[in-house]
Amino acid sequence: MCCDEFAISLIIRDFLSIRHAEPKANLYYNLAIFKGIFCSLHYDPMNGNIIINNASQLVTCSGFRAKQGKSMSDLHVIDHGAVVIEKGIITAVGKTEDVLAGSDKTGFETIDATGKAVLPGFVDSHTHFVFDGYRAEEFSWRLCGEDYMKIMERGGGIVSTVGATRKASREELIESGRKRLDSMLSFGVTTVEGKSGYGLDEETEIKQLEVMEALDRMHAVDIVRTFLGAHAVPTDFKGREEQYIDYMTDIVMPLVARKKLAEFCDIFCEKDVFSLEQSRRLLLKAKELGFKLKIHADEIFPLGGAELSADLGAVSADHLLHASDNAIAKMAKGGVIATLLPGTAFSLREPYARGRYIIDQGCAVALATDFNPGSCFSESIPLIFALATLSMEITIEEAITALTINGAAAVDRADRIGSLDAGKIGDVVILEFPSYKFIPYHVGVSCVEKVIKNGILVYDKQNKNSR
Ligand code: NIG
Ligand code: FE
Repeated sequence: MCCDEFAISLIIRDFLSIRHAEPKANLYYNLAIFKGIFCSLHYDPMNGNIIINNASQLVTCSGFRAKQGKSMSDLHVIDHGAVVIEKGIITAVGKTEDVLAGSDKTGFETIDATGKAVLPGFVDSHTHFVFDGYRAEEFSWRLCGEDYMKIMERGGGIVSTVGATRKASREELIESGRKRLDSMLSFGVTTVEGKSGYGLDEETEIKQLEVMEALDRMHAVDIVRTFLGAHAVPTDFKGREEQYIDYMTDIVMPLVARKKLAEFCDIFCEKDVFSLEQSRRLLLKAKELGFKLKIHADEIFPLGGAELSADLGAVSADHLLHASDNAIAKMAKGGVIATLLPGTAFSLREPYARGRYIIDQGCAVALATDFNPGSCFSESIPLIFALATLSMEITIEEAITALTINGAAAVDRADRIGSLDAGKIGDVVILEFPSYKFIPYHVGVSCVEKVIKNGILVYDKQNKNSR
């Protein structure tokens, strides 16, 4: 069965079983409609029409581009706010009384958000969520003092996940990916970036990207795909790194571009993985082929990947634990998003990236989970908020900007998502609490009560069957 057929069969299976169990819980049906899969089944055209009113705080994060430096503190909060979404698109935002005055509510579902804060859906702009091959054993070795890079050098780490991902069927990857997306959605994530990079050969890199393409069609969470063929050197290319880069640039990457399977290209630019020159060579070719660029930069060793991101006009440079002052200044000037991944530093027990300094230098910072089976096996948005605010001197307001409009900018979608502005996609999170300040205050626990995607309620904490 091809991916599409498999995706549709899963939805039909869920549709039938949920429908029999409890029609009101049939949110998965809604999101299938939203993704267009049931277009031919005469769905209700009112879907995607919703009004959320009486919010104690409507945290709009208003803006259409990345917020740099001081402007990351501007959340544009409206007290007693409302947002109107029509056919999936936001059409009005403001004080409840102003927004509702004279508006015809026929055909709109209404959610009363009294006593609740309402925010844009979160954007997790850096993950590796499609894989097989967990590494709990490796995690326990690291707790005993073993080094992440040393484990990788002796054939563990990324390469061990590669072995399992090569063997996994598309169906298995879709099924595990779907569960991970369900979990992300419950944390309020409405758009996620996902990377390949656990194939390191043509067949598996394409398989991972096609799995993400299928998941994007079947799941409420939108997926932005990144080609990361240069994530590690596979065993059969050990010592022949230049040839591996040739293989990627001459064979795999053009195929990915031809099939339109990825929008971004990324590389693990790191000592003993891919050098600065190899990274430049690969990314220049990627740019030529029309990919937008990202770099895993200066994660373990200060190699200069952050400077390279500015030289090449990358959309983002990610990790940055060891980025130099000069690199940060260049990124601020060039408008490269600094994507910080505190869950990874926490899991690897490394010092955090200099969040406060990077913002003070005028950079636009995004925060993301880096969810992957090795360096950070966590898709927890509450964890990211806790680490950013309690350990990196990032304020609550800056952290929210970093996970909304700046996350959107890190996937080049600040014009469409990341804020509650008229004209944008209706992706909304409703908290259980009246203020956005509860997000890090309720430390490590999700405050998300409801998630609306394209104007459709796709997650409700009260409703155990929702996704
Ligand atoms: O972003 N550093 C490289 N890639 C991932 C880790 C992947 C893995 O360990 O499987 C990261 O940390
Ligand atoms: Fe990563």
